[in-house]
Amino acid sequence: MKSPKCILVVGGAGYIGSHMVWLLGQKGVDVVTLDNLSSGHRDAVLHGQFVLGDIADRLILDKVFGEHKFDAVMHFASFIQVGESVLDPAKYYQNNVVNTLNLLNAMRAHGVDKFIFSSTAAIFGEPEYVPIGEAHPQSPINPYGWSKRMVEQVLADYDRAYNLKSVCLRYFNAAGAHPDGLLGERHDPETHLIPLVLQAASGQRPHITVFGRDYDTPDGTCIRDYIHILDLAEAHWLALQHLQSGGETRAYNLGNGNGYSVNEVIETARRITGRAIPVQEGQRREGDPARLVADAGKIQQELGWQPIYADLNTIVKHVWHWEALNS
Ligand SMILES: NC(=O)c1ccc[n+]([C@@H]2O[C@H](COP(=O)([O-])OP(=O)(O)OC[C@H]3O[C@@H](n4cnc5c(N)ncnc54)[C@H](O)[C@@H]3O)[C@@H](O)[C@H]2O)c1
Repeated sequence: MKSPKCILVVGGAGYIGSHMVWLLGQKGVDVVTLDNLSSGHRDAVLHGQFVLGDIADRLILDKVFGEHKFDAVMHFASFIQVGESVLDPAKYYQNNVVNTLNLLNAMRAHGVDKFIFSSTAAIFGEPEYVPIGEAHPQSPINPYGWSKRMVEQVLADYDRAYNLKSVCLRYFNAAGAHPDGLLGERHDPETHLIPLVLQAASGQRPHITVFGRDYDTPDGTCIRDYIHILDLAEAHWLALQHLQSGGETRAYNLGNGNGYSVNEVIETARRITGRAIPVQEGQRREGDPARLVADAGKIQQELGWQPIYADLNTIVKHVWHWEALNS
């Protein structure tokens, strides 16, 4: 395999992208991060060069592609709030679809033909069965999910027509933080369960709301598949190696295959923090399926990916360490 020398990471100042940039640094790869800081943080980019810019801006893309010879592009730059995407679909289709097309077309113009895309379990919509493998029907139930589904279609067509090779990684719930506390999740507003629970533990929030206890699950609360951020970053590294070795376009579901209920997350957080964590009872939210669990067998078989931090205790411990350092 030709080892990668330089990678463009768009959205590298965000939660997942910043861990990826750090990992690429550990692997000895040069990185240019392009990020408009709409939700990212400049100080989260711990390796390589940082360029402040928007993927909507073709001039800046031409400049960046003109100044570097990239082996591949990793694309983390999108809007991520499902609820907001329902209220303002234009915002989501513009950034997640139209701006991604702009990026892909700049790649074509500059002869860069390898792309790794942050897709999502939301492309599947309401699950017909779990665990969810790649063959599960795709039927998104919100504009966020559709925006990712559309880009996956674009990528299949760009491969056929332009030989642009890609790997789509459909993450389930990205969670955790850097084990040494170097990086973590800093979304505003925060919508993800584990940081919300730990912020309730540290007193930054008055309570955590549990949305429904009458689901068809053992304890009545929703079950999700939490994949540690560094396991996720490692999957991108393997996807990059796959493309570098001349591999074909692929799409993989990415979770650790263990489902944990909302209640289990809260109990684990109580145990690890030793804090009370007040809970408020809420109504079910529309579009929240009872269970979302990945079947990640395909990426395990084809790329040899294995989660190292699959255990919920470890994930919660890493986030608590991060919260303790940053609250
Ligand atoms: N967090 C999850 O659980 C999860 C699950 C499934 C998929 N994903 C996908 O993973 C990717 C990263 O998610 P995240 O949680 O790190 O989000 P994030 O908001 O922390 O990171 C996104 C980054 O992209 C930047 N950005 C957004 N639009 C941009 C633009 N037009 N030009 C340049 N930079 C731009 C933001 O400033 C931010 O730094 C997203 O594509 C998201 O849809 C995340």
